[in-house]
Amino acid sequence: MSEPLVLGIESTCDETGVALVRGRELLGDVTATSMDEYARYGGIIPEIASRAHLESFIPTLDAALAAADVDLGQVDAVAVCAGPGLIGSLTVGVSAAKALAVSLGRPVYGVNHVIGHLAVDELTDGPLPERFIGLIVSGGHSNLLSIRNIATDVVELGGTLDDAAGEAFDKVGRLLGLPYPGGPHVDRLARAGDRHAIRFPRGLAAGKDKERHRYDFSFSGLKTAVARYVESLQDAGQEVPGAHVCAGFSEAVNDSLTAKAVQACLDHDCDTLVVGGGFSANSRLRELAAQRCAAAGITLRLPPLRYCTDNGAQIAALGSAAVRAGVEPSPLGFAPDSGMPLSVTVVH
Ligand code: KG4
Ligand code: ZN
Repeated sequence: MSEPLVLGIESTCDETGVALVRGRELLGDVTATSMDEYARYGGIIPEIASRAHLESFIPTLDAALAAADVDLGQVDAVAVCAGPGLIGSLTVGVSAAKALAVSLGRPVYGVNHVIGHLAVDELTDGPLPERFIGLIVSGGHSNLLSIRNIATDVVELGGTLDDAAGEAFDKVGRLLGLPYPGGPHVDRLARAGDRHAIRFPRGLAAGKDKERHRYDFSFSGLKTAVARYVESLQDAGQEVPGAHVCAGFSEAVNDSLTAKAVQACLDHDCDTLVVGGGFSANSRLRELAAQRCAAAGITLRLPPLRYCTDNGAQIAALGSAAVRAGVEPSPLGFAPDSGMPLSVTVVH
């Protein structure tokens, strides 16, 4: 018998994503986004995002079913992101998922959006190994995880003490007057700059902090150093070398992320590093991670660019992994959790 058909629904932030996965095969995946509406505000407006989810959900569902060439009646289980994210956005997706599950008479799995960023890797690179280190880098998270089973056994090793990697990039983008979200723009500018021109500090990289926070990150000191550098030039009426600033800043962030991720692999005797999250689209992260993993004999698994930012496939992939692992579905009364911890993969 073929494996169950899982419908995945993503609505944590500005993307409405719907995907269909059978086993580890992605059959259809459609994403709508309301990001264009936020450029003039310089950040996401939760009320606008919630309304956009409500408007986009049915068309996105229809498009995903058509892309997968399946009927709603064939769906065996519904997976939906239960958190972390914007509560209004999550509520739209969770309500839609429950309505579908009840009307179809199928189970619903409220899954962790962040862990989904790693699960999506199975759809492109095949089954995850028995043990691996996960590096999550997104707008809200920068975490190192030790994983034995993506659906049942995820242990947090560390995370950021302040800003997430994507968040730090967005803030530096704002400082330099780049459009929101700044991450991709800072990445693009960094490629044109000299990463050795300006050396910015690496957080938690020396002294007692290095050992005490072996798997933690800190980017707020770096962000302040960048702000001071830019402001001192502006105050002196000098031109800010934007590309060099971005290159030096990007190097500092990516040096910390990749050094600690490789260290975690070596410490835990894991030969695979899986990276996921919106920031895993960053070109220097991809380059430096590849170099350092190769040098340490570690297999690096990175999602293709289109699965880095939020999508329905990551939710369907994690839902499918939960079904495969025999995890109990979520009770129908479950609520979304804007601060869902990494210790919870499926809500119970
Ligand atoms: O995972 P994601 O789509 O949403 C969250 O769950 O947070 O990540 C979005 C974050 C934003 O901060 C965005 O600026 C950042 O990922 N991002 C990038 C790049 N592409 C997206 N940051 C740096 N370089 C990029 N190429
Ligand atoms: Zn995300």
